[in-house]
Amino acid sequence: MSDDNKPVLKVGVAGLGTVGGGVIKILRDNAALLTQRSGRAMAVTAVSARNRRVDRGFSFDGLTWHDDPVDLAADPNVDVVVELIGGSDGPALLLAQAALKEGKPFVTANKALIARHGEALSALAVEQDAPLRFEAAVAGGIPIIKALSEGLSANTIDRVYAILNGTCNYILSVMEETGAPFEDILADAQKLGYAEADPTFDVDGIDTAHKLAILSSVAFGASLNMDAMFTEGIRHITPHDITFAGELGYKIKLMGVSTLIDDGVMQRVHPCLVSLETAIAHVNGVNNVVVAEGDPIGQTVYQGPGAGEGPTASAVVADLCDVARGATSPILPPPADVPSTYLGMDGHEARYYVRLTVADEPGVMAAITAALRDEDLSIESLIQRSHAAGEPASVLLVTHETNEMKIRRSMERIGGLDVMAAAPVFIRIENL
Ligand SMILES: NC(=O)c1ccc[n+]([C@@H]2O[C@H](COP(=O)([O-])OP(=O)(O)OC[C@H]3O[C@@H](n4cnc5c(N)ncnc54)[C@H](OP(=O)(O)O)[C@@H]3O)[C@@H](O)[C@H]2O)c1
Repeated sequence: MSDDNKPVLKVGVAGLGTVGGGVIKILRDNAALLTQRSGRAMAVTAVSARNRRVDRGFSFDGLTWHDDPVDLAADPNVDVVVELIGGSDGPALLLAQAALKEGKPFVTANKALIARHGEALSALAVEQDAPLRFEAAVAGGIPIIKALSEGLSANTIDRVYAILNGTCNYILSVMEETGAPFEDILADAQKLGYAEADPTFDVDGIDTAHKLAILSSVAFGASLNMDAMFTEGIRHITPHDITFAGELGYKIKLMGVSTLIDDGVMQRVHPCLVSLETAIAHVNGVNNVVVAEGDPIGQTVYQGPGAGEGPTASAVVADLCDVARGATSPILPPPADVPSTYLGMDGHEARYYVRLTVADEPGVMAAITAALRDEDLSIESLIQRSHAAGEPASVLLVTHETNEMKIRRSMERIGGLDVMAAAPVFIRIENL
């Protein structure tokens, strides 16, 4: 029920692109429902974007236009500032700082901003007693920040793992369906609007790393530290690896994995082989999934659309509802409660998938097994794929559990053998 005594919550929106446009649409189309849910009416009163003359499919009548988004912070007709511009610095950061300094609630979908500056912004928000909300920054429409910070607040969380980048999940899914190489599927994804013109953030794992850092902070109270994170993308994954992984009973997924360890939190982003028997293996296309494991609850799984206008705007508007209800509490913990510990990957313990491309010559297997034996690497299974006479052959290995230092050393040694027709490839098998 709306409380007629509560004044309308006046919303200023910076950025009127995919997400900003979606937010304005939901606030207008679902106004009655949102008033009922949050107990207070909300209305957009002011906006900012780069180009005022673009037709955005809604009227600017009655809205104040600001050429400079930072001016939304001081606009007396704005109670809450929503930032949907993007970028970790520049106008997004200036607007966040200005809004919180004014004591105004600040809502954003910007993972880069929160991953890089979340601790300082959170400290400012606490000092000013102004809410800072970023549900849409991680996993789009999945309300994972709320689930971790509220729904699971009784639990000690000890591991969170997730597929957080829809672009990479889409590319890997289509590579599996079509057998086409990474570059071709990336080019198609760019044409379809599923990948940016500059895909670096997505395919090199940086976007996943930003989101994982935020999840670690919310789940474990870990300090937000992008330098304390191992990050590897999917450019080196081939359709052969996807096919071979399938034959061995696995899918290849780009995952973010964050684990509570003795002296902090270990965070890593890289492609993983995940068993076909896990739910996460079957999350395909642009969807996201987050698995949180805690005590006493055990395992919980959250799945849904990780990006796009509707899902992301849904999460932004949910934050606005929280603000309308009077939310104040900080979501990010005070800095450095639990250190994010970068241990490197040398000590990482796992089973490994290895693909070797070798010349069709006698003595090849003997040379490879000698190199593996010298590094004390024991092999769970070894398959040599049939091939045309004289053509290079693929040798697939799955190791027993070992550590990454041994894998790297043996791959270096094997890579130097004359019989190798291409550099060895290894992918970590995730024990889920
Ligand atoms: N798209 C998604 O699926 C998705 C999902 C989760 C999170 N996010 C996050 O949501 C945020 C917005 O993403 P988006 O996809 O909506 O981006 P977008 O479509 O590119 O829109 C960006 C908007 O920001 C405006 N803008 C850019 N620079 C500006 C400046 N200096 N001053 C004022 N306005 C400026 C642009 O103005 P013009 O329109 O005039 O150019 C545009 O309206 C980003 O942080 C992104 O990471 C997006």
